[in-house]
Amino acid sequence: MILLTGGAGYIGSHVSVALSDAGLDVVVVDNLSNSNKASLERVQTICGRSLVFRHADICNEEAVYEILRAYDVSAVIHLAGFKAVGDSSVRPMAYYENNVVGTMRLVSAMTRASVKTLVFSSSATVYGCPEYLPLDEKHPLKPTNPYGRTKFFIEEMLKDLCNSDPCWRVGILRYFNPVGAHESGLIGEDPVGIPNNLLPFVAQVAVGKRDKVLIFGNDYDTADGTGIRDFIHVVDLACGHLSVLNHLKQPGMLTVNLGTGSGNSVLEVIRTFEAVSGRSVPYEFGERRPGDVAACYANPTFARKALGWKSRRSLAQMCADHWRWQSQNPDGYRGTQPLQYRVSKLKVRAG
Ligand code: NAD
Ligand code: UFG
Repeated sequence: MILLTGGAGYIGSHVSVALSDAGLDVVVVDNLSNSNKASLERVQTICGRSLVFRHADICNEEAVYEILRAYDVSAVIHLAGFKAVGDSSVRPMAYYENNVVGTMRLVSAMTRASVKTLVFSSSATVYGCPEYLPLDEKHPLKPTNPYGRTKFFIEEMLKDLCNSDPCWRVGILRYFNPVGAHESGLIGEDPVGIPNNLLPFVAQVAVGKRDKVLIFGNDYDTADGTGIRDFIHVVDLACGHLSVLNHLKQPGMLTVNLGTGSGNSVLEVIRTFEAVSGRSVPYEFGERRPGDVAACYANPTFARKALGWKSRRSLAQMCADHWRWQSQNPDGYRGTQPLQYRVSKLKVRAG
């Protein structure tokens, strides 16, 4: 059994599908602080298999320990955490508590339960302002915001853990910009309030929920003046987790970029979205967003060599799948019916 923290969220729901499709049993642990458990009902519909959901907080070490023991867990994929860059500057302590302390509690529960295989969701944000491009895993780490620093500290903590005990098998995944949705249109990103990220904002403009996209700067030193990012299809990203689990059959530690290796500008994304959706996406240029860099994209060579993994889906497919999700679910998961889950007999303290 694989324990997936944060499995009800955007990336987690897609990782749940990838694991289930690979025939693995999954127990999702999520406190639903930024998600809706309807996502997991839909995961079960997509896969035709049940998964176990446990409403718990990773900061609750006893709850996590009981779940690890009850389900005979062999490995943990750890996605639970807060992720909004701007919010992390407003309430940094909440980020350190949830992300860093949460991971410490999780690792402590795993140690007690003798579960020593862990895959952790880090982020390209740990690199900070690129000193060279494309970014390989050896690039210096200089995160520029509290969220990025939580990921950096967790990475360092996990390295120390592996150095102290060679039984640990740890995979650190530095995601670039996950976008898109499962091709069924049943699961996807469901941001609360005004989306921070580009694709959800573009999709909400295309569906008529917002008037126009504000492009944060058109005076960058890039071909069209707008920012460049490495957008990666969330399904390709999810498949990367399976490759890492497979790799961790051997002991040790692995840190790897999950990106496509190519960058696309904000204007390219908008034009591609318009082409695949057939909708117009009005935009206007505004000031640069503080903290943004001109360009950020991965060198994905190590992932290919070490894991045999590479992304497959094009920007057009990312936009088409994102649009299918958005147009079929204009209000996200809100309004969907409650779930019928496999009910566990285990009593878990409230998270
Ligand atoms: P998300 O918010 O959709 O999913 C995170 C999930 O974790 C949510 O379901 C939330 O309810 C849950 N959660 C949060 N704190 C918890 C806690 N203490 N206990 C239990 N559950 C908790 O975010 P996502 O986009 O799916 O991101 C997943 C992971 O990937 C995060 O760690 C994020 O930092 C990382 N990441 C995301 C991106 C991105 O652009 N989406 C990029 C790089 C890295
Ligand atoms: N952008 C706009 N208008 C918007 C939103 C974004 O012009 O309304 C631009 C940004 O300026 C940037 C590009 O679109 O040039 C991408 O911005 P996102 O907010 O979608 O993504 P970021 O690269 O800023 O950050 C994301 C996640 C971080 C993660 C990072 C690297 O939000 O958590 O990717 O993985 F760390």
